[in-house]
Amino acid sequence: RGKEIRKNAIKWKDLAREAVDEGQGHINPMLQFAKRLVAKGVKATLVTTIFLSNSVTLSDPTSSIDLQTISDGFDQGGFAQAKSPHTYMSTFKSVGSQNLASLIKKLGETTRLKFDALVYDSFMPWALDVAKQFGLLTAVFFTQSCAVNSIYYHVSKGTLKLPVEEPNVSIPGLPLLQVSELPFLLYHYGLYPASFDMIVGQFSKHEAADWVLINSFHELEKEVIDKMPEIWKLGTIGPTIPSMFLDKRLENNKDYGMSLLEQNTSTCMNWLNSKPNGSVVYVSFGSMAELGLEQMAEIALGLKESNYYFLWVVRKSEESKLPNNFKVEIGEKGLIVAWCPQLEVLKHESLGCFLSHCGYNSVLEALCLGVPMLAMPQWADQATNAKHVEDVWKIGIRPSLDEKGIVRKEVIKQCINEMMQGEMGKEMKKNADKWKNLAREAVDDGGSSDTNIDEFVSKLVCV
Ligand code: UDX
Repeated sequence: RGKEIRKNAIKWKDLAREAVDEGQGHINPMLQFAKRLVAKGVKATLVTTIFLSNSVTLSDPTSSIDLQTISDGFDQGGFAQAKSPHTYMSTFKSVGSQNLASLIKKLGETTRLKFDALVYDSFMPWALDVAKQFGLLTAVFFTQSCAVNSIYYHVSKGTLKLPVEEPNVSIPGLPLLQVSELPFLLYHYGLYPASFDMIVGQFSKHEAADWVLINSFHELEKEVIDKMPEIWKLGTIGPTIPSMFLDKRLENNKDYGMSLLEQNTSTCMNWLNSKPNGSVVYVSFGSMAELGLEQMAEIALGLKESNYYFLWVVRKSEESKLPNNFKVEIGEKGLIVAWCPQLEVLKHESLGCFLSHCGYNSVLEALCLGVPMLAMPQWADQATNAKHVEDVWKIGIRPSLDEKGIVRKEVIKQCINEMMQGEMGKEMKKNADKWKNLAREAVDDGGSSDTNIDEFVSKLVCV
């Protein structure tokens, strides 16, 4: 019974962390989109839940974005406070929609703000009904790649049946996908029913929205975007990387958003500054992935025995998995931090490549800063992203797994060598630079995403 209770406790701890981190992963792109709207002369109000607002601080106190909060019914503990994920989702829907409606009404009365449109996250389809009550235009905002959304869309329509029984899956506009290259929830079908409902629920009302906005850019996912015309009422508005990382004219502006954790900025930047150009491997598995002990040890040894410097983000909760004495043994060769300013790290000239779990934000960031990748997906959408990194965008490789699903240290060393010095590495770097330029062009004046944002803005009465 004790074991059972501990298992449940761990499950709830994971779900709680997932709720906050996923929330931030969704707020960040929305915040950056709001900033682009403001740059076009639109007034933007960003609404988040009371619980999440405690872990979100805008780093730009003079921001022209108005930050407002509503209760989701769980102000003290968010997701973890609810008895189950289903309770959370249904309470968020009922309490959240009432509170969102009250907020729109209140702001209309007290500030004389007249809203024209509601841009809402795809995980809260009920926001469409709130917007319609007020006669607002509606835009559903998808934070993940078009490829991943396309797969989920086909599941929701029943054109991709679960459980998948064939070894390969064919989706229009996508390369043939092995089952293990689908998003984790689909090949572990049935394990997380609430998350599954949330994913499929994204498509319950999106056809009624005036626009569908995707955090991608047309050049990046042309094939799949062009195959899905019926849900694309406007299209791509990304990448939602802070403008100062895409536009040289803005690069001295440091107020680019918000951070989840203490970033150890000066430690990281001083250390990187002391390293030669292209000599450092940056390693991060994002805000959520939890590696097994064996995998952690193989990465540690692979990095230690490789010929390159490394900066490794090991979150506090993962630190005890490092081999004994590892930090001492590596000396100046490696720096381990609990969290870092990732965009600034990726932009640093000492960087050679990025060993990553392939969370969508990390992939977009590497791509926008021209950094080639070693792709080690763990769960969520990461396997599909990693497939694109290697086979579609050709900016990285996936180190092979052994029969236990572990990437061994020899493979890690060999892939790092290849990426830092080999012909393949040069090719990947060239491709990454190509995508970097295309991403910049997409959000630059007259680019594909910029034009879509202009079109959206032109429909707003207030502009
Ligand atoms: C989660 C899922 O795991 C991912 O698959 C999905 O695509 C988005 O939501 P996460 O695992 O945190 O996200 O990965 P990712 O999408 O890469 O986002 C991590 C963010 O944290 C990035 O914006 C990155 O710049 C930032 N980060 C990461 C830091 O600022 N510092 C760090 O040390 C590590």
